[in-house]
Amino acid sequence: MRVVLGVSAGIAAYKACELLRLFTESGHEVRVVPTRDALRFVGEPTWAALSGHPVTTDVWDGVHEVPHVRLGQQADLVVVAPATADVLARAAHGLAGDLLTNTLLTARCPVVFAPAMHTEMWEHPATRANVAVLRERGAIVIDPAVGRLTGADTGPGRLPDPAEIFEICRRVMAGRPRDLAGRKVVISAGGTREALDPVRYLGNRSSGRQGYALARTAVARGAEVTLVAANVSLGDPAGTKVVRVESAIELRDAVLSAVADADAVVMAAAVADFRPAVRHDSKIKKTSAEPEPIDLVKNPDILAELGERRRAAGPGAGPAVIAGFAAETDDVLANGKAKLARKGCDLLVVNQVGEGLAFGTPDNAAVILAADGSQVEVGRGPKEDLADAVWDLIAARLS
Ligand code: CTP
Repeated sequence: MRVVLGVSAGIAAYKACELLRLFTESGHEVRVVPTRDALRFVGEPTWAALSGHPVTTDVWDGVHEVPHVRLGQQADLVVVAPATADVLARAAHGLAGDLLTNTLLTARCPVVFAPAMHTEMWEHPATRANVAVLRERGAIVIDPAVGRLTGADTGPGRLPDPAEIFEICRRVMAGRPRDLAGRKVVISAGGTREALDPVRYLGNRSSGRQGYALARTAVARGAEVTLVAANVSLGDPAGTKVVRVESAIELRDAVLSAVADADAVVMAAAVADFRPAVRHDSKIKKTSAEPEPIDLVKNPDILAELGERRRAAGPGAGPAVIAGFAAETDDVLANGKAKLARKGCDLLVVNQVGEGLAFGTPDNAAVILAADGSQVEVGRGPKEDLADAVWDLIAARLS
């Protein structure tokens, strides 16, 4: 496909080199359009050599080919990474002072912005308003990652990992609908750990991959995503707000506070049903030759609680869609149907686990059961495909 990679003048421009490589190595034809000041960070020869095409910043080079309209018109995707506060402002106001902003005005394909800037600039009301305008017009603006910025600052403003930006672009180019634009979704992922003492815990084998796939696909479909991650060691999906938790109690608190204004919640985390009754402050010692029994107490059932709270709040209360996952080893469908009814959720994704299926693998297969009695079977494939099938059903229920 034909991709225009816009690069504006932020220090993160060096990371755009890697993004460019990801596109070209996957066979895409990329034209790089930097702003003039972006070339202070990474020079024209680098972009020209990596893309295999000449690079210019203004509309006065090669005028006979009318580049100021041609690049935008012919593109299948325009991605601006990094997008500075300045370029977001110019795009939101339709200015056309250089080749990049001309390209943005003539593009009729999907447009993705990956902003990177200092936290104060990202949070400034002017930038918030410009981002809102661009999203309103259908552009995907990926929320920056939180972390170390240039200098001593930390906060929201980092350019997400180029591989994660590429993943979003790949899904946008595959023609995924932007049917979650303006929607807020909460996803739990990973597996809880219930502490016995400062060094030991009871845990499970969930890797968090399915929850992270749900987050990635939701961002590509335009959603604002809060990802409550329990003990996941994967890279943060671009554009999500990641809240890290360890235990079921922490996960419950994080999910309940995040769902306050959410349209949908998907509980993909493997939550421990029980936790040790006592968490020892010091490491448990072998005091006798025989093992000590461990007393357990029940953890809250978060999915069931979400359904109960919504019911108690009355008609119209949110989240509009509550979805859960059920990992089963036997009687998969019968157990799934009983669980859907017991938990009072709208959708339950039932998958068979064991024998190399589901846990820690990139693939998954499932049946999605709905409270209205319908069911959708999703054949074995990447966890992103199952995630998209879940969002198809959720988007349909939200519209
Ligand atoms: N879940 C939850 N809180 C719990 C346990 C599970 O919110 N304490 C959620 C999970 O995130 C998942 C769904 O409930 O979305 C089903 O999880 P599962 O472990 O299959 O259900 P259980 O109620 O624990 O049933 P089982 O008897 O099969 O363990």
